[in-house]
Amino acid sequence: MMTRKELCWNDIQKMRKIWSFVNEVLRNTPVVQGIFREAIEDFTYEDFHIPNGWKIYLSFGATQKNGEYFPNPTKFDPSRFEGNGQVPYTSVPFGGGHRMCPGKEFARILILVFLHHLLKKFRWEPKVPSEKILYPFFLLAIPTDGYPITLSAV
Ligand code: HEM
Repeated sequence: MMTRKELCWNDIQKMRKIWSFVNEVLRNTPVVQGIFREAIEDFTYEDFHIPNGWKIYLSFGATQKNGEYFPNPTKFDPSRFEGNGQVPYTSVPFGGGHRMCPGKEFARILILVFLHHLLKKFRWEPKVPSEKILYPFFLLAIPTDGYPITLSAV
């Protein structure tokens, strides 16, 4: 019997543990730091009055470390995303609502296929172990040296 080497859709659907791991990475270190929304009418949220036309910045870096929803928030713990997962809209690395990232599912497949091959076939060492990550304009996370690595086959 021939062994199938290519990944298929069913394989991707089964990669739940590693997707929990990726979700925890994106919660801790969101690729996109936050999103803007513009108020289309006056409204009040808690004690804040937001006038029509004002821009609101939702900082994922802050909300995704809310201890009310993520106990011990700085701890890296992929199990947070296992089972029933998280309360909706508490961790939103792909945004939410009408303008949510349309590439989310595509990104999920790319990340899972990439990690599958990387973890099965290679080991790597970062060349700059304490490399700094910058967030220019509060948006994308950029490693200062481009995250150089030494790659070796398993
Ligand atoms: C890890 C990978 C990715 C992350 C974390 C990410 C995150 C985001 C976020 C946070 C937004 C803003 C959503 C909002 O305002 O609610 C966004 C928008 C968008 N993303 Fe992604 N994205 C990723 C990959 C991709 C890919 C692979 C594509 C295309 C193939 C893509 C295409 C877009 C587009 C076109 C928008 C604008 C949507 C709009 O304004 O209506 N993204 N993404």
